[in-house]
Amino acid sequence: MSLQISTRVWKWQVIVLFISCNNIGSGENLQYSVWEEADLGTLVGNITEDLGLPKAIMSERKIRLRSSGGGQYFAVDQQTGAFFVNRTIDRENVCGSSLHCLMTVEVVLEKPLELHRVEVEILDINDNSPMFSNPEQVIKITEIFAHPGARVPLEEALDPDSGINGVRQYSLSPQLYFSLSIRSPNDGAPSPELVIEKALDREEKADYHLILKAFDGGEPPRSGTSKIVILIIDFNDNAPIFQHSFYNINVPENVPVNTSIIQINASDLDEGFNAEIEYFLDGRTPVFVRQLFSIDPETGIIRTNGILDFESSDSYEITVRAKDKGIPQMEGSCVVQIAVVDVNDHVPEIVLTSLLGEIPEDTVVGTTIGLFSVLDMDSENNGEVQLVLSPDGPFQIKSFKDHHALIVNNLLDRENVSLHELVLTAKDMGSPSLSSQVTITVNILDVNDNPPLFLNQDLIHLLMKTMNLEIYFIHYLPLIAMRGTMPNLLSL
Ligand SMILES: *[C@@H]1O[C@H](CO)[C@@H](O)[C@H](O)[C@H]1NC(C)=O
Ligand SMILES: *[C@@H]1O[C@H](CO)[C@@H](O)[C@H](O)[C@H]1NC(C)=O
Ligand SMILES: *[C@@H]1O[C@H](CO)[C@@H](O)[C@H](O)[C@H]1NC(C)=O
Ligand SMILES: *[C@@H]1O[C@H](CO)[C@@H](O)[C@H](O)[C@H]1NC(C)=O
Ligand SMILES: *[C@@H]1O[C@H](CO)[C@@H](O)[C@H](O)[C@H]1NC(C)=O
Repeated sequence: MSLQISTRVWKWQVIVLFISCNNIGSGENLQYSVWEEADLGTLVGNITEDLGLPKAIMSERKIRLRSSGGGQYFAVDQQTGAFFVNRTIDRENVCGSSLHCLMTVEVVLEKPLELHRVEVEILDINDNSPMFSNPEQVIKITEIFAHPGARVPLEEALDPDSGINGVRQYSLSPQLYFSLSIRSPNDGAPSPELVIEKALDREEKADYHLILKAFDGGEPPRSGTSKIVILIIDFNDNAPIFQHSFYNINVPENVPVNTSIIQINASDLDEGFNAEIEYFLDGRTPVFVRQLFSIDPETGIIRTNGILDFESSDSYEITVRAKDKGIPQMEGSCVVQIAVVDVNDHVPEIVLTSLLGEIPEDTVVGTTIGLFSVLDMDSENNGEVQLVLSPDGPFQIKSFKDHHALIVNNLLDRENVSLHELVLTAKDMGSPSLSSQVTITVNILDVNDNPPLFLNQDLIHLLMKTMNLEIYFIHYLPLIAMRGTMPNLLSL
């Protein structure tokens, strides 16, 4: 508590003359000061002493305060002249946030009537804490703008106290990504600014929660806090990424049209439109591949669009792209390698090249009487063909690669069997296996009893050819096989 007295008499006289209409004498102007919130009864000054009134006449003068203005807060003791606090003074209530708070009290003395003016300065005590009007400040920053050095102004705290007891300082909960910068104008409250220290990536962390604390300059300082919520707004800075860059799948050639063969999946770290993905086949995909495969833009399911045929193409490579719907649009791609798996869908086919329907019963063992080949369009086991002759009787099949010869491998006896009906079965090794049959009829001609009816010129030629062929098979074939070439048998 401090007391201050000044005597600015001439000024007061002017005011007194101006405000008083009745015959009030001139008075002295006193000035005191008192702390706000001072206890009731706190002595502010000694009016009788300061006005220089002799103690003896105090009771006569009937000293009193006018109740208007500041008068309601103070009272004066008739006996001692003590001017004291008689009502709690809240400086902020009386003067708001103005820097100086001055209350005027009018002191009235009787006999003679005198009016004095007492100015009481209410001194601020730090009775208010800084306060933010929003307990939570939400700040949205687009991630591309959230680069180091960027600044975001923060809301200032308010403190009704004045001067040093007002807001003087701010602090931010410590963390890596943000720091606090405070602008302090010479005459005014400091204002806080958030400074981004490190680039912010929404995909790494989308929100930050900080505490901003404001301090006043009182002793001890008082403080107030506000939550700062920083939301990082997505920017389309991520392209869709496929789970795998390369997909390898096997598809049986006989799958029905519109069969789903694979679902590929890309993901995008962004959010919203920036992460909404659409799949499509690369623009350079050949037309014939587009005719065979299609992709669902939303699900990434690849379906067959036509009939696959291993025999016409056993593999396809498709580049699939995915784009998001952000601005700017971003794209990713992957490659799908489709291996068409052969299915045993071709029946082996026996093609007879030549056949002697009739042979003499003395035909030499080893003579070739027929030539044929076997075709199976399938591959591997599905195309590997076994030949079975039944009943085999005096005949046998000799094979070289895909070429086969029907050979007499035992003595013929027309008197026992004059007509041989042979069933030749070609069967592939697929699962399930497919087979086909041809029936071969060989007539045995009697050479002892009858003239050789069949020996017309054509047949002789043919027979000679088959004899040659037999020689060829038995003597030259191994040699040729070793050289790895296969001459056209029919040209022999
Ligand atoms: C002090 O204030 C109280 C109530 O506000 C009032 O009754 C009393 O008369 C005052 N005292 C003086 C000396 O004016
Ligand atoms: C005020 O001053 C007068 C004269 O000096 C003195 O008699 C009186 O006791 C004082 N009052 C107080 C409250 O100190
Ligand atoms: C292909 O199959 C899907 C799923 O079963 C179906 O929604 C679609 O209509 C089919 N498309 C055609 C062309 O049949
Ligand atoms: C695609 O991948 C994402 C992320 O790996 C996953 O959440 C989602 O379920 C997947 N979708 C499909 C259809 O596999
Ligand atoms: C007659 O033919 C049958 C069947 O071909 C055979 O089992 C049998 O041994 C033959 N007989 C003679 C005498 O060759």
